Amino acid sequence: MNHTKILITGGAGYIGSVLTPLLLEQGFKVTVYDSLLYGGSSLLHFISDKKFTFIKGDIHDKESLSQAINKNDTIIHLAAIVGLPACNKDQKLAHSTNVKGTENVVNSLSPNQILIHASTVSNYGAFPGSACDENSSLNPISCYGKTKTEAERIVLDFQNSVCLRFATAFGVSPRIRLDLLINDFVYQAYVNKFLILFEKTYKRTFAHVQDIASSILFAIQNHEKMKNSIFNVGDNSNNYSKEEIALKIKDRLEYYLHFADIDGDEDKRNYSVSYEKINSLGFKTNKTVDEGIDELIKASRIFEFKHPYKNY
Ligand SMILES: NC(=O)c1ccc[n+]([C@@H]2O[C@H](COP(=O)([O-])OP(=O)(O)OC[C@H]3O[C@@H](n4cnc5c(N)ncnc54)[C@H](O)[C@@H]3O)[C@@H](O)[C@H]2O)c1
Repeated sequence: MNHTKILITGGAGYIGSVLTPLLLEQGFKVTVYDSLLYGGSSLLHFISDKKFTFIKGDIHDKESLSQAINKNDTIIHLAAIVGLPACNKDQKLAHSTNVKGTENVVNSLSPNQILIHASTVSNYGAFPGSACDENSSLNPISCYGKTKTEAERIVLDFQNSVCLRFATAFGVSPRIRLDLLINDFVYQAYVNKFLILFEKTYKRTFAHVQDIASSILFAIQNHEKMKNSIFNVGDNSNNYSKEEIALKIKDRLEYYLHFADIDGDEDKRNYSVSYEKINSLGFKTNKTVDEGIDELIKASRIFEFKHPYKNY
């Protein structure tokens, strides 16, 4: 089978808006299936490309979803309620989207189709000490991590699937997200000129959004070697403590940085991750955290920061 027709669920989002042009440039026919929770302007740029199709659809809608899936060879499943704050805001919606929605995707597949699933290193939860690899036990601590861990189990029942556990993304996308740790820290430092940091020693692991998109292309191109398996996606050199990230930003921007001992962050993730498994197949990331911070500072001059209820 020639896997040239690709469906991306959630393709209008932060990662999907960077992945779509990468796949179109490679000559694939790309259909984005998205309910447009955050709008669709990040996709307007591709409308004139004849290889691009857009379907406004919800992964809860089994009929419309399976019709869209049937017309494609490769399915990249990105659609989800993403991140701790969004999931905590409506835990029922998070569960139905991330778990039931994934079940709907898997149940619509035929055995010769390929599924590439966007999973997350958040599944490791709190894992201080040695770096977790794909065999480490999972200890998700947030509603987001728990629903994504459940989704991953469902996906692994499908023989032709690849589970990519992405590190926390950073960098600029046409559908920017300012709730991701590095993006948020740069925003706080640039706009508010201060950052209050809890649990400064907690470790996190990062990957540029373009590298995440490249890893999906890599999984399509190396599907035979990767199918039926889980891969962490990131780079060993991009494991940092929260303090190290804040100080990297301080090297570039003047802002007040306060390390707080009282109270804490709702997000208790604390882990380092090993990326040797995907590296051993030849996948390497290109962008460092330093490059990402420079890029975000440059973009901060473009973002609209004016509050609608302030006169300045
Ligand atoms: N960005 C990260 O740091 C990161 C890290 C690890 C894993 N991931 C995973 O990658 C995927 C994409 O993340 P993102 O950062 O692009 O998130 P995002 O929130 O920017 O994009 C999610 C997209 O899914 C769509 N969507 C939500 N519910 C839907 C539904 N019911 N039906 C159809 N579409 C729906 C939204 O409209 C949105 O366009 C997610 O599965 C996420 O768990 C992201």
